[in-house]
Amino acid sequence: MSDWTLRLTKSLHQARSQPESRYFQLATLTEDLVPANRTVVFRYLDNVDNALVVVADTRSAKWSELSLQPKASVCWYFSKSREQYRFIVHGEGYTRETAPELIDKQWSKLSDAGRKQYFWGQPGSVKQSNGPLRVTEDMSHPPEHFCVLKLLIKSVDYLSLQGNPQYREKHWLDSSGKWVSQPIIP
Ligand SMILES: Cc1cc2nc3c(=O)[nH]c(=O)nc-3n(C[C@H](O)[C@H](O)[C@H](O)COP(=O)(O)O)c2cc1C
Repeated sequence: MSDWTLRLTKSLHQARSQPESRYFQLATLTEDLVPANRTVVFRYLDNVDNALVVVADTRSAKWSELSLQPKASVCWYFSKSREQYRFIVHGEGYTRETAPELIDKQWSKLSDAGRKQYFWGQPGSVKQSNGPLRVTEDMSHPPEHFCVLKLLIKSVDYLSLQGNPQYREKHWLDSSGKWVSQPIIP
């Protein structure tokens, strides 16, 4: 396991009683080269691919933005341990067509409320009525637009506010594909 993986695993453990620590911000780049940022739920850390895994909708902007430009940024703050992680990532999208087992597994982990969101209609489109969005579909199987995003980590910028002075270090892959780290001035 790399140094940053051990750090992140520890941060997640320390924040296990704080649901808000499972949210991070994912910034992609729009077609017009404007950064687009949004909050997503961290699902799990894929130790084989070194990836943060999230679920999403292929009809959303983040999917099309990552399809055009897979390079993206993640910013994640753990308020209890006062640590910030900034990751440069490469986004890879999976659907039922390309990764049925992964999709079915992540779908099975969603609550009914989580599943319903995928049946409200096209994200970002005009809402046709003022009433509540009703879902009558069978939610036992994921719709084709349900997707998993693997955010493959290419570098890590870690900052801890715990001490005085603060502590910051960078982690990146060297030319042989091995993780290296370097403390830097905060
Ligand atoms: C706390 C929180 C958690 C969220 N988690 C997710 C998520 O896991 N996946 C997702 O697609 N959208 C999630 N959203 C909604 C996104 O932030 C965003 O509004 C939506 O996906 C549309 O984004 P886009 O048009 O930029 O793709 C979450 C929002 C909040 C406030």
